[in-house]
Amino acid sequence: MCGIFAYLNYQVPRTRKEIFEMLVKGLQRLEYRGYDSAGVAVDGSKKTATDINGNTICLIKKQGKVKALDEELYKKDSLDLDEELYTHFGLAHTRWATHGEPSAVNSHPHRSDKDNEFVVIHNGIITNYKELKKYLISQGYEFESETDTEVIPKLIKYVYDNRESDTVSFSMLVERVIKQLEGAFALVFKSRHFPGEAVSTRRGSPLLIGVRSKFELLTEQIPVQYNSVHFKEGVQEMNSHNRPDSSTALDSEDTSAVEYFFASDASAIIEHTNKVLYLEDDDVAVVKEGKLSIHRMNRQAGEDPIRAIQTLQMELQQIMKGNFDAFMQKEIFEQPESVVNTMRGRICFDTNNVVLGGLKDHLKEIKRCRRLIMIGCGTSFHAAVATRQILEELTELPVMVELASDFLDRYTPVFRDDVCFFISQSGETADTLMALRYCKEHGALTVGITNTVGSSICRETDCGVHINAGPEIGVASTKAYTSQFVALTMFSLMMSEDKLSLQKRRLDIINGLRMLPELIRKVLALDEKIKSIANELYEQRSLLVMGRGFNYATCLEGALKIKEITYMHSEGILAGELKHGPLALIDKDMPVIMLIMKDGCYTKCHNALQQIKARSGRPIIICCQDDYEAIKNAYQTIELPQTVDCLQGILSVIPLQLLSFHLAVLRGFDVDCPRNLAKSVTVE
Ligand code: F6R
Repeated sequence: MCGIFAYLNYQVPRTRKEIFEMLVKGLQRLEYRGYDSAGVAVDGSKKTATDINGNTICLIKKQGKVKALDEELYKKDSLDLDEELYTHFGLAHTRWATHGEPSAVNSHPHRSDKDNEFVVIHNGIITNYKELKKYLISQGYEFESETDTEVIPKLIKYVYDNRESDTVSFSMLVERVIKQLEGAFALVFKSRHFPGEAVSTRRGSPLLIGVRSKFELLTEQIPVQYNSVHFKEGVQEMNSHNRPDSSTALDSEDTSAVEYFFASDASAIIEHTNKVLYLEDDDVAVVKEGKLSIHRMNRQAGEDPIRAIQTLQMELQQIMKGNFDAFMQKEIFEQPESVVNTMRGRICFDTNNVVLGGLKDHLKEIKRCRRLIMIGCGTSFHAAVATRQILEELTELPVMVELASDFLDRYTPVFRDDVCFFISQSGETADTLMALRYCKEHGALTVGITNTVGSSICRETDCGVHINAGPEIGVASTKAYTSQFVALTMFSLMMSEDKLSLQKRRLDIINGLRMLPELIRKVLALDEKIKSIANELYEQRSLLVMGRGFNYATCLEGALKIKEITYMHSEGILAGELKHGPLALIDKDMPVIMLIMKDGCYTKCHNALQQIKARSGRPIIICCQDDYEAIKNAYQTIELPQTVDCLQGILSVIPLQLLSFHLAVLRGFDVDCPRNLAKSVTVE
């Protein structure tokens, strides 16, 4: 996930310093979307320009947080800070690396060539970038970064260099480019050939445009039928207050003095204007001579695009967290999208092929190994526990799961023919990193599973997979866990591609992954019910979470979430161990959450349930929809949609994420910053 911000002033005098301030402010608002590097593209000084109609574009990029870029901007002696620019279009971007480590050269804006004829900012992933890059290299275009994005400015230059006539517009060039792109993108383009002109578009990634004009100051009305798009005034809800006939078109005089703001989300815009317009997939928005027009790529006959200008009535803080009270809650609700981002470009649902690009060159070696060792801490360790069984089943290899600290304490024997996985959201956890160095010293092949490109674990492993869940801000990990789960499951699918006897099983899992976002949405819809259960539980001192088989990891992870943000004692218990000790804890006062899913452990879980009932326990059961046997024995139930056994843990952990969130709120604690904990644990 990255943050896009662009600012265009048409006939509004702004000094270059003011433009810099505007761009940096926009990036600061978006920094929560990514913060490993940042950059801007602005017009160079007219006074010093020598070519292309006197237009130059200056790129300034810097690794690190936006603050580092801000300092860099004022070091450019060639850019006169007091120069007044009546019309100017500037791009800005804050990056969360997905392809290529964090560095100035990999950061955005990316450019077509050394003369910066076209520059672009991008949020999303271009999944066919390798094919495009190969073709463009064969045509003589030179690449400087390791990113997927760089194919876009190169491609537009290619289209421009091969245009049939000089009448081809900027937006036509962009349309030709996006026809070739696969994946997800929000893009904003700037070009020396089209000064003062902005083109933006999106598919799968969000993009909105804020408008502030002289007209807006005079009246609340917004122009309609402005070139090829109708704008309608609405309040919050798109199309909720359509008044096409009552609005007034702007005349040419009124279009002077207008400013446009392009951004990944409203948090970067709201302090400048509350009038915004959300682009939809395949919209191409153009600002030319101060006028905004929007048209559809591949517009069908009779299709009449309508985009409403909405009046946002929200506070900045609210927008950054969306409608959520905490980042953790937002991240829980992002999971339908974050799991898709983990799978994007890696699973082909038509051919049932699974390719993890970062591992494919090592696949033969991995298949020949003696055993797989999965190493992590906390939640990342739980992702290993959650996927161990399917890894064993589909790879037919022994799989060890290890807590990094314990693995090191034992000086665990590691051999040259072992393959060791290091699972870490941050990629910086000290224990995991030290275990990685230990395994390298012993000659094992090392694989990173991280959410942070360019992190130490990424750099030091032989190969790896980025889970692409987007930045996780809440200290308690949620969406990273489900994305780690998906990534490791995809690895097991990739390893079993050529095993005939496993094909039916593979197909069921791939189908389950395809349905996953929809099923996650259904689980999230249970939030109110879970909140009411939290209301009953929040004054308790202790909470047990019990299950087995594919759902044992959910118990460990659920209990961890509860203890770290609610400060209640909570324990994840393997139901198979009940008789060996934990049963002594059970009485009518001890709250117990039981996971009973329709899988190979169903009957055994029911046996455990009977033992709890026999001790007057009042179990809250997380079970599959319409499991009347479970429902009849429960004090409360949370019924989940059923999926393939090995993916059920992705659905069953979500009620516990939500429960811990509501418990923490009811107990009055700061959900995003629990006491004594840090997001990245870089000390042993
Ligand atoms: C719990 C949590 C921690 C981390 C652990 C490892 O919600 O976030 O248990 O999972 O500190 O961190 P990473 O995954 O960054 O190595």
